[in-house]
Amino acid sequence: MQRVLVTGAAGGIGSRLRKLLKGVYPEIRWSDLKVPPDLARDEPFVRADLASMSEVEKAVAGVQGIVHLGGHSVEGPWDTILNANIAGCYNLFEAARRAKVERIVFASSNHAVGFYPRQRRIGVDDPVRPDSRYGVSKAFGEALAALYAYKHGLRVTCLRIGNFGDAPVDKRRLSIWLSPADLVQLIRIGLEHPDIRHEIFFGASDNARSFWDNEPAFRYGYRPQGRAEDHAAEALAADARLPPDPVGGWYQGGPFCSDEFDSGIVKSPT
Ligand SMILES: NC(=O)c1ccc[n+]([C@@H]2O[C@H](COP(=O)([O-])OP(=O)(O)OC[C@H]3O[C@@H](n4cnc5c(N)ncnc54)[C@H](O)[C@@H]3O)[C@@H](O)[C@H]2O)c1
Repeated sequence: MQRVLVTGAAGGIGSRLRKLLKGVYPEIRWSDLKVPPDLARDEPFVRADLASMSEVEKAVAGVQGIVHLGGHSVEGPWDTILNANIAGCYNLFEAARRAKVERIVFASSNHAVGFYPRQRRIGVDDPVRPDSRYGVSKAFGEALAALYAYKHGLRVTCLRIGNFGDAPVDKRRLSIWLSPADLVQLIRIGLEHPDIRHEIFFGASDNARSFWDNEPAFRYGYRPQGRAEDHAAEALAADARLPPDPVGGWYQGGPFCSDEFDSGIVKSPT
């Protein structure tokens, strides 16, 4: 990997990666709709709206690998999701194919499978069960990943990121936390491992209360270093201060499940 593009450079994860990926690849190009306020002189940047194919084509030109973080990162109105995440993701994959990009790491989300109950341990072969329009857009991105991998030979890794941060901050996040260093490890497997064709990994650290079987990532050598239980006391204390949420407390997707919820069936057993 000589030249890598990272989209979503101005976002929470992108801003951390601008420091953590420094020196890892010879050339890293950063892209976003917004110019990051703290962009350094030695960080090449291409402003691009993912909803514009011509702008995305300019952003991807000449790179070998892409880390696709850009998009609307929470629930939103349909038009927003449609432009940034559905059209945006299609433009990214299609522009990558045209430009003969070799690899993509796609930031998917736990919200693609948010409507599984917390008591059920799921793996990447369980069908998607999105908890929001946002979650549907991530399932769409995962479907594009499979199409472009099997039809066009792109090597694609989807990371179903749980919750990225320095520490898990409540009970749910003890199960889904992803440390910055562990995200870097997963991205590097996606961009560098010789055997990657098409994979879905859970973007999760070493979480004793995990909802997920992350065996596929372990098979590629992923060895998470972040231990959620080291932060359990603070996370559980913070959780005790949260308002009760019978729906969000039952399902893996938490508040994304209770938002707009109007089903009579609050607790699906499976
Ligand atoms: N942070 C997490 O814990 C988490 C969890 C699961 C998945 N993810 C996914 O990881 C990625 C990065 O997350 P984040 O927390 O940094 O999100 P973020 O919202 O902080 O950053 C997303 C970036 O995408 C950019 N963007 C939005 N619409 C765009 C468009 N039309 N064209 C170009 N850029 C656009 C925004 O300007 C923003 O800088 C997102 O795809 C998100 O869905 C994050």
